[in-house]
Amino acid sequence: MEKSINTTRYLEVMGNYPTGVTVVTTLDDQKTPLGLTVNSFTSLSLDPLLVLWSIDKKVSSYSVFTKTKQFAINVLASDQGDLCSLFARKNTDRFNQCEWHLSKLNLPILSGSAGVLQCKTYKTIEAGDHTMLIGEVIDILNENKKPLLYHQRKMGEIPESFYQ
Ligand SMILES: Cc1cc2nc3c(=O)[nH]c(=O)nc-3n(C[C@H](O)[C@H](O)[C@H](O)COP(=O)(O)O)c2cc1C
Repeated sequence: MEKSINTTRYLEVMGNYPTGVTVVTTLDDQKTPLGLTVNSFTSLSLDPLLVLWSIDKKVSSYSVFTKTKQFAINVLASDQGDLCSLFARKNTDRFNQCEWHLSKLNLPILSGSAGVLQCKTYKTIEAGDHTMLIGEVIDILNENKKPLLYHQRKMGEIPESFYQ
């Protein structure tokens, strides 16, 4: 590998790319809710309405998410930093420690999110140590709240000065 190409440098540059934060949820075959914190989420297409995110093959719910027919993208609001941490924490009952409900489409929706996109799985593409999940948006909730930001492993909200 060339000197200028290594994992540390890659992580430094990617860590300096600010994102929002989402929690992606679904139900398994036993109707148990599953979810994880995700910042690889992005928009993909307007016609049809497509989004994408990627899941690490090491995540415990990997086999459920790569087979599920539908999932929900909960876009976290600026006051939901605790949910970002909760849904990235290992070996804990995540859904027992937050408020949520099942939507009409049978997907777990976190209370207080800035927005929710419910999706049906359009395509999955294995790539390296992750699998990309492409979803077709079938329902949209927009609460028009300020989003949670993630940058250099820190969470926060967009400062008021940004809008001036
Ligand atoms: C801000 C943030 C963003 C994350 N984004 C992703 C992501 O896009 N894809 C992914 O697979 N894991 C991502 N993770 C890590 C997962 O949330 C974490 O590995 C997962 O919840 C572990 O689940 P498990 O204990 O069920 O294996 C992210 C974590 C944080 C804190």
